[in-house]
Amino acid sequence: MKHIVLIGFMGAGKSTVGRALAAELGRELLDTDQMIEEKAGCRITEIFARQGEPAFRRLEEEILKQLAEEKAPAVISTGGGMPVFEKNRPALRRLGTVVYLQVKPETVLKRLKGDTTRPLLQGGGAESRVRELLAEREPAYRDTAHEVVPVDGMSADEVVRRIKELN
Ligand code: S3P
Repeated sequence: MKHIVLIGFMGAGKSTVGRALAAELGRELLDTDQMIEEKAGCRITEIFARQGEPAFRRLEEEILKQLAEEKAPAVISTGGGMPVFEKNRPALRRLGTVVYLQVKPETVLKRLKGDTTRPLLQGGGAESRVRELLAEREPAYRDTAHEVVPVDGMSADEVVRRIKELN
């Protein structure tokens, strides 16, 4: 049973594309951020604020273990930091086809303007943080992915079509 696993930076469209792809394929969408919020009983911003990022990363690992037990092929959309941790990469790849939604910093900044739900991008200097973090993470995303889909300038439906062509 092979899942389709979407990875990539914040604002790449993993959740939006994931929803559309799951509907198109008649599969369930499993969104790791949402699973974490359900497990913790609070929002991600609150987990970061009250317990710190390491606690959030531990929850991500737990969710990854939980996903390995999912039998029915689903579409899985992941939090942008999951592949950054080397130990998560083989676990992500074992889940199925890993598709990296590759996005340019300009697109991220446009899409996430005014966003308050991403703790890593709050406060001043968001623009340089996006550029730095994206450049730093690119090798991890590439290392984890079976397929790379550049998404700048594409609608969610177009991205879904591209992913369907891969399979
Ligand atoms: C994070 C991305 C977020 C969320 C958390 C940390 C990251 O998910 O998991 O805020 O480290 O890139 P999205 O990629 O869905 O925004």
